[in-house]
Amino acid sequence: MSRNSSTQVIRPSEITPQRVFEKRRAILRAAAAGVAYGSLEWANAQGSAAPAGSKLVTARSTLSTMERPTSHADVTGYNNFYEFGTDKEDPARHAHTLRIRPWTVAVEGEVNRPKVFDIDELLRLAPLEERVYRMRCVEGWSMVIPWVGYSLSELIRRVEPRGNAKYVEFVTLADRRQMPGLSSPVLEWPYVEGLRIDEANHRLTLLTLGLYGETLPKQNGAPVRVVVPWKYGFKSGKSIVRIRFVEKQPVTSWNRSAPYEYGFYSNVNPEVDHPRWSQARERRIGEDGFLTPKRATLMFNGYADEVASLYAGMDLRKQF
Ligand code: MTE
Repeated sequence: MSRNSSTQVIRPSEITPQRVFEKRRAILRAAAAGVAYGSLEWANAQGSAAPAGSKLVTARSTLSTMERPTSHADVTGYNNFYEFGTDKEDPARHAHTLRIRPWTVAVEGEVNRPKVFDIDELLRLAPLEERVYRMRCVEGWSMVIPWVGYSLSELIRRVEPRGNAKYVEFVTLADRRQMPGLSSPVLEWPYVEGLRIDEANHRLTLLTLGLYGETLPKQNGAPVRVVVPWKYGFKSGKSIVRIRFVEKQPVTSWNRSAPYEYGFYSNVNPEVDHPRWSQARERRIGEDGFLTPKRATLMFNGYADEVASLYAGMDLRKQF
């Protein structure tokens, strides 16, 4: 990969699948011809539909893995987003009904400066970075995804949490008119996730606004989600509308629904099996076929050097 060493800006052709790259060139040609198309400004002016796929300007973060990203087709076509159905293809098929403008995120609770952020303010709050992260789903598959966003800590410091803010709760959208999956009792809605405040403040925890150099596709949690790469994927809540700073450990969706299977921490840990299957190995989507041996899952999904100290002294078998 070639890189401009002074600015660390990566060219779209280096990170982007050919199809997206071609689309972008068409956008640039249209722009050169005086057609305002594809920019965030254009998206915002349309009110209701910032097209998933508005280009974002990013620099590549040094926190990125050098592993090969999973294809755009797999990242956006093989998803878990139960608000749109429980099959892996359902979110790509049904999430077009999600309205992502107007959109606000209320940041509240034990903070000195609570604030309702408009999504377009969040897009400009801090410099956007591309963070290529390994992602491991609790079901035993993994991907490598070039996310776009900035550390959640950038948002956290602006609201000034108080000393008694020990945890952060993430509440996601639950609107029956937009989300057909809400008619199913598979989970209690809204989908809620949570982190300890030091986990939320860790530099790897990403307030995520895009992937593959563009705003988030709806099936991946548009317009804003969190991504916590050392935890199983379900900790990374999609389409967030409220972030609450609280004193007590939040009740999270999967922990509430099956507490013996899904703990609050849910750190990727090959030594602690799910009660119904091993977590020692994983299948990389798009690379490992059903006949290839699965690859070994790494402690904290390979991010142990960064995050193991957060859990010093804890029994990770009990606090799983
Ligand atoms: N967030 C919401 N609101 N609803 C969900 O069903 N699924 C989780 C997580 N966030 C989920 C969610 C699970 S199980 C995973 S593995 C990841 O999103 C998948 O993210 P991706 O589809 O962008 O890869």
